[in-house]
Amino acid sequence: MAPFRVLMLGDVIGRPGRKMLLRTLPSFRERHGIACVVANGENASGGMGIQRGALDDLFAAGVDVVTSGNHVWHRKEVYGLLAEEPRLLRPANYPARLPGLGRVVVEKAGVKIGVVNLLGRVFMDPMDDPFTAADRELATLREAGAQITLVDFHAEATAEKEAFAFYLDGRAALLAGTHTHVQTSDEKILPGGLGYITDLGRCGSFLSVLGVEPKASIEGFLTGVPQNFTPAKSTLMMEGVLADIDPATGRTARIERIRQQAEAYDE
Ligand SMILES: [Fe+2]
Ligand SMILES: [Fe+2]
Repeated sequence: MAPFRVLMLGDVIGRPGRKMLLRTLPSFRERHGIACVVANGENASGGMGIQRGALDDLFAAGVDVVTSGNHVWHRKEVYGLLAEEPRLLRPANYPARLPGLGRVVVEKAGVKIGVVNLLGRVFMDPMDDPFTAADRELATLREAGAQITLVDFHAEATAEKEAFAFYLDGRAALLAGTHTHVQTSDEKILPGGLGYITDLGRCGSFLSVLGVEPKASIEGFLTGVPQNFTPAKSTLMMEGVLADIDPATGRTARIERIRQQAEAYDE
């Protein structure tokens, strides 16, 4: 079977990130023959959380599954959204009383793709063990017939991310870190065929502090007081990885890190 090409994208930051994806992703997807796109949407609305309009923008841009992370709960509307939209994930290791799921199976070009979203625990809020949660989620996806499994591990610490990759090697096709908003240059394929990058980066302003205007961020460090952040607009980039995966084996054959300068967009 021909390699199956997927694109995973880092956290989309606010309106500039969404508008940039609407302008940039459809042609990029076409040009590269991409069968499935996963993007992290935890910062898609105003830089914190996600609402219906932002989710619809991501789907309209060609994103097939939207993952998230610790910031997904910022806007209350997300509770309803998670309950009604299976292609919006929240990390699977949050308490079960919260709405939504941390996994989904979608079918693209005749291939069943499982997507899993998990949250790290190092330098993050206390949470169930993501390693054990991954065992459970992967078993569920296998039962559902997933041929390829993509994992968004939303975590801060590099060691936790690398350990997680070796833990899942041979059991998933691609594991991409999110949450730091800073792309790492360590894309690789592990011995069991797992494609990996510690962090995908961001879809938003490159000349910014993690995608937001620097002024409020600096003020936050100067005062120690939480600030309201505004998504920045300068030098918009789409960052992530492209991976060619063999659906017959579920292994990654090729991985390429991307940082695509966005086409200009009008307000
Ligand atoms: Fe984020
Ligand atoms: Fe996060």
